[in-house]
Amino acid sequence: MAFFQRRNAELYAEHVALSTIAEQVGTPCYVYSRAQIESNWRDYDQGFGTHPHSICYAVKANSNLAVLGVLAELGSWFDIVSAGELERVLLAGGRADHIVFSGVAKTHDELQRALRAGIHCFDVESVEELSRLNRIAQNLEQIAPVAVRVNPDVDAKTHPYIATGLKQTKFGVSFDEAIAAYRKAKVLNNIQIIGVAAHIGSQITEAAPFLSALERLLALVKDLKGEGIHIKHLDIGGGLGIRYHTESPPSSQQLIASLVHVVQTSGCSLPLYVEPGRSIVGNAGVLLTKIEYLKSNAGKNYAVVDAGLNDLLRPALYGAWQNIVPLRQRSDVEPATYDIVGPVCETGDLLGSQRKLAVCSQDVLAIADAGAYGYVMSSNYNSRLRSAEVMVIGDQFHIVRKRETINELLAAESLLPAN
Ligand code: LLP
Repeated sequence: MAFFQRRNAELYAEHVALSTIAEQVGTPCYVYSRAQIESNWRDYDQGFGTHPHSICYAVKANSNLAVLGVLAELGSWFDIVSAGELERVLLAGGRADHIVFSGVAKTHDELQRALRAGIHCFDVESVEELSRLNRIAQNLEQIAPVAVRVNPDVDAKTHPYIATGLKQTKFGVSFDEAIAAYRKAKVLNNIQIIGVAAHIGSQITEAAPFLSALERLLALVKDLKGEGIHIKHLDIGGGLGIRYHTESPPSSQQLIASLVHVVQTSGCSLPLYVEPGRSIVGNAGVLLTKIEYLKSNAGKNYAVVDAGLNDLLRPALYGAWQNIVPLRQRSDVEPATYDIVGPVCETGDLLGSQRKLAVCSQDVLAIADAGAYGYVMSSNYNSRLRSAEVMVIGDQFHIVRKRETINELLAAESLLPAN
């Protein structure tokens, strides 16, 4: 957490004390550091050296407009998976022709909207999607640029819910059927083949699975050449892990350097695209949450906080471990071991288990590394209002999403008409 540092007893985001944000904005509240996002993105960019490349930020990891705006300003490309994400990128100043569109279930309307917007590439995940896209492009009198997302059947060695590159998952076109899919694409009049794509999973902590997937893509590019199909880019997807606890993933620079090395030594000079999400925004965010009550049941200590699994789902859904620290270190109380639990009426609403903390009731905690798959996976479960989001820039902070209100929570609903 280079841009989240403790000074004396206080935790800071860049030059802003997080306790100031907790006081002024309230909790729960996500706080992001612009400098950390920029630094993570630049690390990728530098890793490529002079090799042609595009860094397509995976919008799903954190789609707040301000986050997208920071990345658009850096010249980032974007990987989207829905029409909603497309509108966000355009609103944030991203260029349509710098967008790749992944996803297994793109609807008719989504394909049409993306064609009209003029996106760079559709990462097509089935032969049926190819036909549908061709039909829609024909009606619009347009040519749809595509990459086939192939499933390279590589074990990403990550949590099974987020491993996407094994052949038994729903993602992509089976490697064995990839050539057939490209042959089909070649004869469709309103489709232009431009790339090959893959994405093998998320929170991957070794380079090896990426390198195996890349080898398979390079072999495919060669085979396609034999078919008279000339590929213009290789997209290896996202998935690089971050250090939440004891993991030691390669740095983005190391990973990219080894990918580029494999591409170049194979005699290929094609541009390489990546789709990182977590490794751009994960360590650039924390979730602030206040201790409402301290209690103990049957000899077990609980810190009951005001953020729950509806605010941060990762611990409940994947058993994920994220560090939890007090904003202000105390020397006036002895540390004790707590389960940090939220307000939601589920035993699984556990943000951290058996954590040693020196805290009092009403203290504010920071849940670290919450910038990716945090707010975006939040919900209104238990009719809880979604939290605020704040971006820190140097010694300033900006509310980039207001805390939801009860009126907003209820706005789209109605009672049945009276009879
Ligand atoms: N590209 C595609 C096609 C993807 O499906 C994903 C993530 C990415 C890129 C970005 O992957 P990243 O660099 O962020 O690992 N909610 C889970 C993670 C789900 C990832 C889904 N796909 C979590 O909280 O761990």
